[in-house]
Amino acid sequence: MRISVAIDGPAGAGKSTIAKLIADRFSLMYINTGSMYRAVTLKALEKGISPNDTEGVCTIIENLNMHFNNDRLILNGEDVNDLITVPEISHNVSAYASIKEVREKLVKLMQQMAKEYDVIMDGRDIGTVVLKNAPFKFFLTASPKERASRRYNELTSKGLDVVYEEILKDIIRRDDLDTNREVDPLRKADDAIEIDTTGIGIDEVVNKIASFIK
Ligand code: CDP
Repeated sequence: MRISVAIDGPAGAGKSTIAKLIADRFSLMYINTGSMYRAVTLKALEKGISPNDTEGVCTIIENLNMHFNNDRLILNGEDVNDLITVPEISHNVSAYASIKEVREKLVKLMQQMAKEYDVIMDGRDIGTVVLKNAPFKFFLTASPKERASRRYNELTSKGLDVVYEEILKDIIRRDDLDTNREVDPLRKADDAIEIDTTGIGIDEVVNKIASFIK
C-alpha cells in the first residue's frame, strides 16, 4: 500500500520547507501542488489568457507536461522554479486556482502521482480533497506577520528586491481568496493535526510531524 502525507495551510506557513525535510527522512516524493497552479499561471500570463477564459486556460493545461525531479517542478522539460516563485505569479495564482475545471484537471494529476509513488503533498485542499484518505494529515499555520517575514527573507535571499508591507498585504489577500472560494477552499480537514508554527523552529515542527508518522 502506498504511503501518503498531506500538509495544508495558508501562504508562507512553512509547508514546503517542512515537507522537503519529511520527504528526505521517510524517502517520500515531495509534490508541491502550489507550484502546479503557479505553472499554469505562468503560462497563462505569458500567453495573455485571463482567468475569465476557462477554455483558454484548460487548453494550456492540456499542453503542459508536469513532473517533479526531487522537489523541482519540470514543466515541458524545463525547470521553472525560479520563474514561478516571483511576486507577480504569487499575486495572480489564486484567480487561476479558483477555476473549477483547472482544479479538476490538476487534482486528477496529483492523485495519479500519489498512486505511483509514496508522497508527501502540500497545498490547500490535500487533506480535504486530493488525498482525502491519507493516513497522515497536518495543517500548518503561523501569524500573518511571521509568514510575511519568512517569505520576505526567502525572496531577498534570492536577490529579489521586495517590500515587506507589500508581501504581507498580498499574503492576507491570497489567504482570503483561497479560503473564500467556492471550489475546494483552504480548510483544515477534520482529521488533520493542526500545528501553529509561530515562533517555533523548523526542527521542532519536523520532529513533531515525524513522531506521528513513525
Ligand atoms: O508557497 P505559498 O504558500 O505561497 O503558496 P503555494 O503553495 O505555492 O500556492 C500558491 C497558490 O496556489 C495558493 O495561494 C492557492 O491559490 C493555489 N493552490 C491551491 O489552490 N490548491 C493547492 N492544493 C495548492 C495551491
